Amino acid sequence: MPKKNVSVFFCQECGNETSKWAGKCPACGAWNSLVEEIVDKASVKQRAKVSDVKPTKIIDVATSNEARISTNIDEFDRVLGGGIVPGSMVLVGGDPGIGKSTLLLQTCRQLCLAGVNVLYVSGEESLQQIKIRADRIGNFNDKLDLLCETNLDTIKAVVEREKPTVLIIDSIQTMYNEAVGSAPGSVSQVRESTSVLMEISKVQGIATFIVGHVTKEGTVAGPRVLEHMVDTVLYFEGDRHASYRILRGVKNRFGSTNEIGVFEMRDTGLEEVRNPSSVMLDGRPENATGSIVTCSVEGTRPILVEIQSLVSKTAFEIPRRMATGCDYNRVNLLVAVLERMRDAKANKSCGIFLGRSDIYVNIAGGIRINEPAIDLAIAMAIYSSEKDISIDAKTLIFGEIGLSGEVRSVSMAEQRVNEAKKLGFEKVIIPFANEASVANIKGIEVVGVANVKEAVDALTRKN
Ligand code: TYD
Ligand code: MG
Repeated sequence: MPKKNVSVFFCQECGNETSKWAGKCPACGAWNSLVEEIVDKASVKQRAKVSDVKPTKIIDVATSNEARISTNIDEFDRVLGGGIVPGSMVLVGGDPGIGKSTLLLQTCRQLCLAGVNVLYVSGEESLQQIKIRADRIGNFNDKLDLLCETNLDTIKAVVEREKPTVLIIDSIQTMYNEAVGSAPGSVSQVRESTSVLMEISKVQGIATFIVGHVTKEGTVAGPRVLEHMVDTVLYFEGDRHASYRILRGVKNRFGSTNEIGVFEMRDTGLEEVRNPSSVMLDGRPENATGSIVTCSVEGTRPILVEIQSLVSKTAFEIPRRMATGCDYNRVNLLVAVLERMRDAKANKSCGIFLGRSDIYVNIAGGIRINEPAIDLAIAMAIYSSEKDISIDAKTLIFGEIGLSGEVRSVSMAEQRVNEAKKLGFEKVIIPFANEASVANIKGIEVVGVANVKEAVDALTRKN
């Protein structure tokens, strides 16, 4: 029988595969995201004989304490979980222009200076362009090889010949595999290219970094479809107009996720930010209303951030609510809680009326935080702006707020309080339930609060 090519449909959003076209992806519900692609059925690999396959007992599996290669960039090492694991595959995603190529070229520089053989394959830039960037970053040595190529067969041949320790593919969307008929950047190209690279990487033990652009439109396959294939997924994010960049681990088979690395884009490349708390608080207005400092934990790392809020009388029929850096729906929820605030002792309602006010909430410094531990600070910032009272600049507050206005405990309270103390804060307002866990920290006043009303009292009380 002649081998038959069949066509299947891929969702460009989630990578789901179906045999029929539909207007809406049956898996993720995205509209108009299915694209047709031809799949070569003959490429199914020969299976091993079933009788040869046996499971292995877990206690018999030998583990080698895999030696990691340090990138000599602490922020990057931390996000990777302590350095590069040989044979691993890391996807670095992010918007175009955010600095992915710069970060990887800097990593190449550190690696080559440490004597590691690196091959940097670029499908986007010419050798001259890479060299111009390299000149801004610093000196290099002969351990780094560059290759401008998009054909995967050629790349595979070069990698097999050169045997680098670390391979960089910039970017996966430009790579082209002849065996797959579709255009570079399409879902099946990106998937096939990744699996080819994966095979090279696993068989030869080469640590591979692949760059993937994130696009919303879906004309180019986003790296989301690759997330389940690779070992580690890192996202490089930040406001392109601000100079701070955050490298965030969202999946890591060799370390903890949600670690972040903070960088600043300078004219000589990316600079590590070793103390993000002081950077995030830089330029904070003292004694301004609607400004309050909280502590968020990203991975294992506490970071102090300033939450700003502005409440003003609305000029519209429906008041505007805006949230930058935090969840919009969460802000709406906190506004509702503030309106229903109750005084438990007096047993009466003492909420503030916000129904005719525009409310803007912003996290300064361009960082995005999704942690509920910043709830209390958001609520207090709104309260402070509405009531026009300024909050003591040496006070920090954190805690999660529940729907009935209770302040719930958060994880890692001790680290948060310690970070506050380190940066010179004199008073922290924390969930009552966390008070015991920080009892042994001296040199900072700790106030435990059980609900929003108590938090307001603790903040506005004059000592
Ligand atoms: P780039 O690494 O090319 O982004 P990506 O690969 O994610 O698309 O970097 C993009 C931006 O960084 C570009 O606008 C220029 C800027 N940049 C600096 O500000 N300083 C530098 O030293 C370098 C190399 C780049
Ligand atoms: Mg680039």
